[in-house]
Amino acid sequence: MNNDLYAVVGNPISHSKSPRIHSLFASQTGEQLEYTAIQAPLDDFEGTVRDFFRRGGMGLNVTVPFKELAWRLADWRTERAELAGAANTLYQDSKGLLTADNTDGKGLVTDLTANHGISLKGKRILVLGAGGAVRGVLGPLLGEHPAAVVIANRTVAKAEALVALFRPVAGKTGLEACGFGQPAEPFDLVINGTSASLQGDLPPVSANVIGAGTVVYDMMYSLQTTTFNQWASNHGATRVFDGLGMLVEQAAESFRIWRGIRPQTQPVIDELRND
Ligand code: ATR
Repeated sequence: MNNDLYAVVGNPISHSKSPRIHSLFASQTGEQLEYTAIQAPLDDFEGTVRDFFRRGGMGLNVTVPFKELAWRLADWRTERAELAGAANTLYQDSKGLLTADNTDGKGLVTDLTANHGISLKGKRILVLGAGGAVRGVLGPLLGEHPAAVVIANRTVAKAEALVALFRPVAGKTGLEACGFGQPAEPFDLVINGTSASLQGDLPPVSANVIGAGTVVYDMMYSLQTTTFNQWASNHGATRVFDGLGMLVEQAAESFRIWRGIRPQTQPVIDELRND
């Protein structure tokens, strides 16, 4: 019998760690599955998805630049995907309807709380950036009931739009938008969700946002310390994390959705860190 088929779709895709992560999950849990990487043409993501499921595929992860398209293509979306405006996980339900989920926010929160032991309840969080990556994680972050989430972005109007979108689910959490120049006091947690480091840039935020107890989290991941985390360490941050744990945790949540089993993530994080 053939193994159940899964894949990650993106463009480009050759750099993706998802096939490695999911095959480590499969051997750890004894699940019989095959997980490949598919490069979809930029103008035919839909055809790629339809073809995959027509061939009997069981589930897809979706990455750059197709997450918003995946969201639009789905017949229905989970609540967290609905709010995220983007999907990283697709599967067919029992009626064959294309279902979209988004596990990125859950991945971030699990990495912070379970792997790094950081409770977010009652904390003051500064989020840098207001693009798709930030929108994808705000719902689960707010679900942890922080005292405040301040979204700072180069284009302030985009931060304001996110505040308007998420205010209905913010509960008692104070939600504010501003430019990078405004925050000037230490936060409990500073999350870099900008793509600035892809251009070797730093979001121009004051180093005063980092105090003795500030935790710094860069949603980016690279083999070397990220530019943002280097900057934070230089300004006194002692607990500084990159997005590798988030990457593995979002994959584990997709695996759980598809297979009904949650793999252990720490051995996989350790293995990837040593690659
Ligand atoms: P992603 O899916 O990675 O979030 P995106 O939706 O294009 O990609 O959003 C990129 C984010 O990084 C935005 O917040 C962007 O700021 P703007 O909204 O002002 O464009 C931010 N960003 C990208 N390059 C940046 C830079 N060099 N300095 C500061 N912020 C930057």
